[in-house]
Amino acid sequence: MPPVDRELDPSPRLLLGPGPSLVAPRVLRALAAPMVGHLDPEFIVILSDIQALLRTAFQTENRLTLALSGTGTSAMEAALANLVEPGEPVLACVHGFFGDRLAEIARRVGGDVQRLEVPWGQTFEVEAIGRALRDRPARIVTLVHAETSTGARQPEIAAIAEACHRQGGLLILDCVTSLGGLPVEIDAWQVDIAYSASQKCLSAPPGMAPITVSPRAEEKIRSRKSPLPTFYLDLTLLARYWSDAPAYHHTAPISLAYALREALRLVSEEGLAARFERHQKNARRLWQGLEDIDLPLLVPEAVRLPSLSTPKLAPGIDDAAVRRRLLNDYNIEIAGGFGPLAGAIWRIGLMGHSSRPENVTTLLGALREILR
Ligand SMILES: Cc1ncc(COP(=O)(O)O)c(C=O)c1O
Repeated sequence: MPPVDRELDPSPRLLLGPGPSLVAPRVLRALAAPMVGHLDPEFIVILSDIQALLRTAFQTENRLTLALSGTGTSAMEAALANLVEPGEPVLACVHGFFGDRLAEIARRVGGDVQRLEVPWGQTFEVEAIGRALRDRPARIVTLVHAETSTGARQPEIAAIAEACHRQGGLLILDCVTSLGGLPVEIDAWQVDIAYSASQKCLSAPPGMAPITVSPRAEEKIRSRKSPLPTFYLDLTLLARYWSDAPAYHHTAPISLAYALREALRLVSEEGLAARFERHQKNARRLWQGLEDIDLPLLVPEAVRLPSLSTPKLAPGIDDAAVRRRLLNDYNIEIAGGFGPLAGAIWRIGLMGHSSRPENVTTLLGALREILR
């Protein structure tokens, strides 16, 4: 019988990689709720619920807060395509794979991109960004808060945002691996556009990308002189759909919106402080266990992400073989390193519903058996 005749039956993986994370049963049940239309009054209320819950998660009062129909990369494109006009100077802070992707997208939307780089695994000093902006003021600065390719958390976002604003620039902050797992304070930090993805610390299925836009960034979008290079990701048109009087823009992914709403309700029920504490506690437990089996962490604890840990591999460990055994014999997914860190680290996610003490114990037990 050809395989396509078999009923879908994915293995029950323990998802401890860089995302997607495990999806809570309540969120899975929401996916199976009956379909309604994308302009049904009941669905418009669901969109409005998502907006309110996202404002809480992002800790913002930004009017323009919604979820794009697309993954995190769609939000990277939306942020840059809406803000950048052709020829405008952009400062791209690159300390890993996703900072590099932002630089590339900024170039493709016509920005005049200057890169500021530190080695993968490190973070930026505020002064270095301030100096780069004094040398060449930029209209837009891109920065990754939680660099999933390295496990580093960029600190001092408020001071960086202030340095951008002082030079007349706006800050785009990638919060894909931080939103819902560690503090993200968009208004207190004065970030201009922040975005995330549904499948990381929010633990919804992949396919939606929360984004929030400050009044300052809205004003820059409103005063554009050149036409927007994207229709699908036009935030002004999308804001008209995500409103009390919705105008059709595209057919929203209804079931994904149900799931995102339920996942955000879980965030709100748990409370942000308790959720961050849970992520931190389980990460500490993992770090201790990794160090006990001679897998020290790449990133210093002060700037280490609780959502994504990156142990360094001791010489002699066969990266791919261990990960293959974890997957095939234990049903556990973790990931390897990218680029300069390929073969040198693992990437272990404890995000959202995956961040549980029993998952840490299971992974450490499996690693101990395999590495023995
Ligand atoms: C920091 C960061 N930014 C952006 C993305 C892109 O998100 P997606 O893969 O959902 O398009 C990812 C994905 O892992 C990420 O970790």
